[in-house]
Amino acid sequence: MLKEIVKKNRSYRSFDGNHAIGRETLLDLVDCARYTPSSVNLQPFQYFISCTPETNETIFPLTAWARLLPNYDGPAEGHHPTGYIVVCTDKNIGPNTDRFRTDVGIVSQTIMLAATEKGLGGCMIGNFDKEKMAAALKLPENLVPSLVLALGKPDEEITLLDLEKGGDSKYFRKDGRHFVPKRKLEDIILGD
Ligand SMILES: Cc1cc2nc3c(=O)[nH]c(=O)nc-3n(C[C@H](O)[C@H](O)[C@H](O)COP(=O)(O)O)c2cc1C
Repeated sequence: MLKEIVKKNRSYRSFDGNHAIGRETLLDLVDCARYTPSSVNLQPFQYFISCTPETNETIFPLTAWARLLPNYDGPAEGHHPTGYIVVCTDKNIGPNTDRFRTDVGIVSQTIMLAATEKGLGGCMIGNFDKEKMAAALKLPENLVPSLVLALGKPDEEITLLDLEKGGDSKYFRKDGRHFVPKRKLEDIILGD
């Protein structure tokens, strides 16, 4: 079952703009992240949640989508994410926030999997200007926005493909559908 959720949990970039996500839903997603492992158990994160159209539209213009696709602008009007969780790293807990990059991944993937289980989907967005995002969200000085988790009810289809050894791993769009090549099991296993 977990494997099915992992496979369903793709990076979606088009959403039903009319499907609101409630604050309680976002709180429950963060509650899942709260139980994840954490290096030295420092738990250096706070989470900015957004589910109102106003705050969502403050965040959206600061996010960049699918940089591998030059002719694609990301979610079209009416298909924007309807919620966000911005994972913020607390410099008061560790001044070198790079140290927590693995932890960012762990909490973020946990949130995305929990969202998938709820019938939602989304995309991790690392391509944004941290200073502009911190200013737009009026974050206190000690918090650095590390990763944006854009969420919504996906309304696009994504197909996973087997990537031939040495082949091109670039994702692509064809006839409005999105394809994502993944390396084969036999090509990534080492040892016995
Ligand atoms: C740390 C991280 C940052 C990412 N940043 C972006 C981003 O800024 N914009 C975007 O459109 N996708 C972003 N993605 C999504 C990747 O492009 C996506 O994971 C990849 O194309 C594979 O597709 P899949 O998630 O469906 O397997 C990011 C993914 C990760 C893990």
